[in-house]
Amino acid sequence: MTVMNSFLDIHKTDPEALRGMIANARAMKDARGGRPKGEPDDEQPLKGRMVALIFEKPSTRTRISFDVGVRQMGGQTMVLSGADMQLGHGETIADTARVLSRYVDLIMIRTFEEQTLLEMADYADVPVINGLTNRTHPCQIMADVMTYEEHRGPIAGKKVVWSGDGNNVFASFAHAAGQFGFDLTFTGPETLDPEKAWLEFAASKGHPVTIDRNPERAVDGADLVVTDTWVSMHDPQSARERRHNQLRPYQVNDHLMGLAKPDALFMHCLPAHRDDEATSSVMDGPHSVIFDEAENRLHAQKAVMRWCLGV
Ligand code: CP
Repeated sequence: MTVMNSFLDIHKTDPEALRGMIANARAMKDARGGRPKGEPDDEQPLKGRMVALIFEKPSTRTRISFDVGVRQMGGQTMVLSGADMQLGHGETIADTARVLSRYVDLIMIRTFEEQTLLEMADYADVPVINGLTNRTHPCQIMADVMTYEEHRGPIAGKKVVWSGDGNNVFASFAHAAGQFGFDLTFTGPETLDPEKAWLEFAASKGHPVTIDRNPERAVDGADLVVTDTWVSMHDPQSARERRHNQLRPYQVNDHLMGLAKPDALFMHCLPAHRDDEATSSVMDGPHSVIFDEAENRLHAQKAVMRWCLGV
């Protein structure tokens, strides 16, 4: 039987499947044992498979980690920029999806509008992976859960504090709170609150998100402190100064990290604007696992792709 699972969002994926992907990612990482990146895995589950990696927005980590991951598993990739395709310009998303399905076995897309991702998944005959939209970034949070658990054991029941903008990366953290069972606190200005729907999802799973405008109070007892850039790719540059003014009290610096638990971790999905949302002293300090997060994109996404294809 051909398996065809699209990985569109954490809240749309069965918790057992999510757990299975994290376990598989850790097993694959352990099995590589620090071998050269270009050396193939012993197992080649994507042998003979072609994967399209489509980017309508810039990317370093997503682009490279998917490309390397496919190659390690024996598959081939084609990296496509939205600007070079007819996607949504000369051709409907639906027709593009149908055409791509005749050439490739799996599609990963980073796009602006969630609707583009959903339409691609609706009309493709092959699985589709969400490589970030304006609304969510599920692959990132799979890597983040993996990273937390590598360092500190099960994330269930832990206190995770997000300080800053209630953006698309936060959205996937809210979904993960519901699916993996951790306690999530949002601290940021009211004007940059996350979408209600994301909070409702976590609450519906028994893990309501706490909102606390006071960052010092919010991080008290935190096991994990997370932040992200103050101006996301889809935010207008004209909003930069206003956002900086609103978000400055939520900067993650040594003082704020010092209020979390002594063994708290610090995460940032990168790219970062050093000394804006987080100081270099925190990013390069003893709590930080930001480069483990970046590495784990590779391992987590390999597991996501295997789940999508059932291989
Ligand atoms: N974190 C992340 O998605 O990085 P890129 O934008 O570089 O892919």
